[in-house]
Amino acid sequence: MKILVTGGAGYIGSIAVEKLIEAGDEVVVFDNLYQGHREAVHPDAIFVQGDLADKTAVDAVMRTHQPDGIMHFASYTLVGESVQKPFMYLRDNVVNGANLLESAVAHGVHRFILSSTANLFDDPERMPIDENERIVPGSPYGESKFIMERLLYWMERLYGMRYACLRYFNACGATAERGEDHDPETHLIPLVLQVALGQREKIVIFGDDYNTPDGTCVRDYIHVADLAEAHILAMRALDQGSRKYNLGNGRGFSVKQVIETAREVTGHPIPAVIGPRRPGDPDVLIASSETINHDLGWQPKYPDLRAIIETAWAWHVKHPHGYGKD
Ligand code: UFG
Repeated sequence: MKILVTGGAGYIGSIAVEKLIEAGDEVVVFDNLYQGHREAVHPDAIFVQGDLADKTAVDAVMRTHQPDGIMHFASYTLVGESVQKPFMYLRDNVVNGANLLESAVAHGVHRFILSSTANLFDDPERMPIDENERIVPGSPYGESKFIMERLLYWMERLYGMRYACLRYFNACGATAERGEDHDPETHLIPLVLQVALGQREKIVIFGDDYNTPDGTCVRDYIHVADLAEAHILAMRALDQGSRKYNLGNGRGFSVKQVIETAREVTGHPIPAVIGPRRPGDPDVLIASSETINHDLGWQPKYPDLRAIIETAWAWHVKHPHGYGKD
């Protein structure tokens, strides 16, 4: 298939591109490079620099390349930032997302995969969280993804669009060639590894008074290559119907467990101090991915936190300052 990948120069998007190309698909990347890196784009992908806010540019890429399907990764993704800048999130994730949908419909592209989020589930009634959990977006970011999920529902009813919403829990890890390079970095695993690289003095644990066994937040860490695989399986299955899947490992690890595992992997003591809670962090978020396992046979190849951190560490050692800065 020929797949248009928005955000294909970003962390998760670039690894999905790598896996699509390995699977024999043709890929067109559309990315404004605000957060992504040109160096992250697989050399066999066609790269178009452009912004989803620019409807003419979006229409041009659809007309020129006529993709069979779209994987839509491009968006802002930080829960905390979205509370500070709600309109930036609504404009970029929703208004620009609607540009992409409108253009897809106009050009007869009827397969769409949305990067959605565990932030749809701010107040879960059951753990692990399955697809029947009630949706309570935890931030303007989560809300922006929920609105996109709802728009896709209408795209299917009105125009026959087939779609999959993939709700990621905590994406992490790296392939040999591609990894996590955000500026500024806010995610736990790369920050911990920056301490091990000597680029930071210590890691601050955001609160140790949560309702969890060691008092620190528990999250479900899922390897980006496993996420990429889920996208490919979901795209191939769309002709049998639209779907929504929660994507995680089904196991939770606390912030302290992540730091301890990183100490074992890196051999560095990684000093840690307890700081205040970060607003908006729930105690525990763990996914049930039984539905995608049942429907598509998807299973994580990296269920083990240590193996995930090893892949991230290998990439950080090779690219201590990220893409294009070595
Ligand atoms: N944490 C620390 N110290 C840090 C950074 C993070 O203690 O310096 C903690 C956080 O409080 C949280 C855990 O580590 O408990 C993981 O935090 P991340 O920032 O790595 O990831 P988040 O869980 O906040 O967010 C991720 C994605 C979001 C997505 C969310 C869904 O970045 O896009 O998971 O749960 F919405």
